[in-house]
Amino acid sequence: MDLGLEGQVAIVTGGSRGIGHACAASLLSEGAAVALVSRDPERLEKTQAALEKSSGGTVIAVPTELRDDAAVRAMVDRTISEFGRVDILINAAATVTPTAFHELTENSWLDLFEQKLNGYARCLRYVIPHMRERSAGNVVNISGLAARQPHATTIPVGLNNSAVLNLTKALANDVAKDGIRVNAIIPHIIDTDRQDETMREWAVITGQTEAEVRAERVAKIPLGRMGTSEEVGDVVAFLASARCGFVTGAAWHVDGGVSMSI
Ligand SMILES: NC(=O)c1ccc[n+]([C@@H]2O[C@H](COP(=O)([O-])OP(=O)(O)OC[C@H]3O[C@@H](n4cnc5c(N)ncnc54)[C@H](OP(=O)(O)O)[C@@H]3O)[C@@H](O)[C@H]2O)c1
Repeated sequence: MDLGLEGQVAIVTGGSRGIGHACAASLLSEGAAVALVSRDPERLEKTQAALEKSSGGTVIAVPTELRDDAAVRAMVDRTISEFGRVDILINAAATVTPTAFHELTENSWLDLFEQKLNGYARCLRYVIPHMRERSAGNVVNISGLAARQPHATTIPVGLNNSAVLNLTKALANDVAKDGIRVNAIIPHIIDTDRQDETMREWAVITGQTEAEVRAERVAKIPLGRMGTSEEVGDVVAFLASARCGFVTGAAWHVDGGVSMSI
């Protein structure tokens, strides 16, 4: 199936590794050009070079701290000046630290949404007006299952992910008249570096071995395995494409069947 993404321009935040990286790879394989965004310039440049080599496509690396509003604006401006436009925004960057509610201080609570939501909102704030001017655009926000399945151990990530879904739906209805679609993906237990780190952190918290934590998590997945970031990237590329032209405000699960919501 041709997704019709040839020649489109995408900003992918969190593009240096994990799910963001897979989204970039999938969009590139469909002929889109990509502005790859994350903080560590060395890792970003390595990923840029590897993606250009494997896809033969055009990738620019734009090191950006998404906590910094001026830096986000500069990143969007640079992408527009290099490519002439932005058709697609994939919000995937996050670093959410698992912290028990009772350990959250006033300051760490106030910082909570800087770990994910605020970076997504900043990118939207600078990309949406540009898309509005062009009367076209597609946004995919990566949420996560804790958005819909609250648990005491996942409060920081859950709050961020719920807020991302709320923002997705509200914005989708607001900008539909401007030819812009806004959707979300709800992944769960995707085999990324961050997932490995989370398993290690969880093993320390529970006193289990990392292998026990992994086995316990996988046992809850009806498909019997963790997902791959490529499986998320492919759904994201499809959702951002004209093949999904009548889909907006949606939140699609990519979770091996774990979610019990219908
Ligand atoms: N993996 C899963 O199972 C899973 C499940 C549910 C939801 N998710 C969501 O999926 C998204 C990607 O997760 P992942 O597992 O692929 O994570 P990951 O491997 O940790 O990748 C996160 C990416 O975001 C970048 N990043 C983090 N904070 C940033 C900031 N302040 N400014 C700019 N870039 C930043 C990181 O690069 P730098 O550190 O160099 O900046 C990296 O490229 C996240 O929103 C996560 O919450 C993942």
